[in-house]
Amino acid sequence: MLDIALPKGRLGEKVYALLKDAGYGCREFEEGGRKLIFTNPDAGVRYFWVKPSDVAVYVERGAADAGVVGKDIIAESSPDVYEMADLGFGRCDMCVAAKKDFKDPEGRPLRVATKFPNVAGAYYASISRDIDIIKLHGSIEIAPLLGLSDVIVDIVETGATLRENGLFVYEKILPISARFITNKASSKFKPDEIGRMLSGIRSRLS
Ligand code: PRP
Repeated sequence: MLDIALPKGRLGEKVYALLKDAGYGCREFEEGGRKLIFTNPDAGVRYFWVKPSDVAVYVERGAADAGVVGKDIIAESSPDVYEMADLGFGRCDMCVAAKKDFKDPEGRPLRVATKFPNVAGAYYASISRDIDIIKLHGSIEIAPLLGLSDVIVDIVETGATLRENGLFVYEKILPISARFITNKASSKFKPDEIGRMLSGIRSRLS
């Protein structure tokens, strides 16, 4: 039996469709409702819905053998897992964005609002710019509008949120897509099951 952590939401639905196509369908999963754990013993799979930002925690600690998570979360939390495949969907970019009239204020740290302090910190360290990180949990685009920050570091997918709030992309700092990750011990002790699932996934990606 493989335990698979799926990110709740559109990305998780897409991953399930891929796994179903690869022979890991689960009738219980498709019935909907508020259940969070679904099993198909015949296919040897158990799915759980978890918050996207928690997938890597379940996989790192072995509560799940594998899962799917965005590269943004991997970059931010550096979980001790194997990153086995780039699924090629869930594409977006981690960007620096700011108001149109933005000028880097010299002589003081740049105030950066973000949900991704480690990614932002690493990026500005790489260009030797001092920053003051302002950690927020959502609606990041508001921060420069209210003078809370000079810039934001955030995910841009369609660009609609930036556009509708009068912000512009200044730098793309990391391309993002969904990754299939596995627990290190599971990879060692369930190599056949994981290998089978991976080749099912890979054959449907190409
Ligand atoms: C994410 C991200 C941006 C938005 C980008 O926010 O933080 O705000 O989506 O998408 P777009 O380029 O297609 O507009 P999310 O929807 O997760 O909400 P949040 O503000 O609560 O984090």
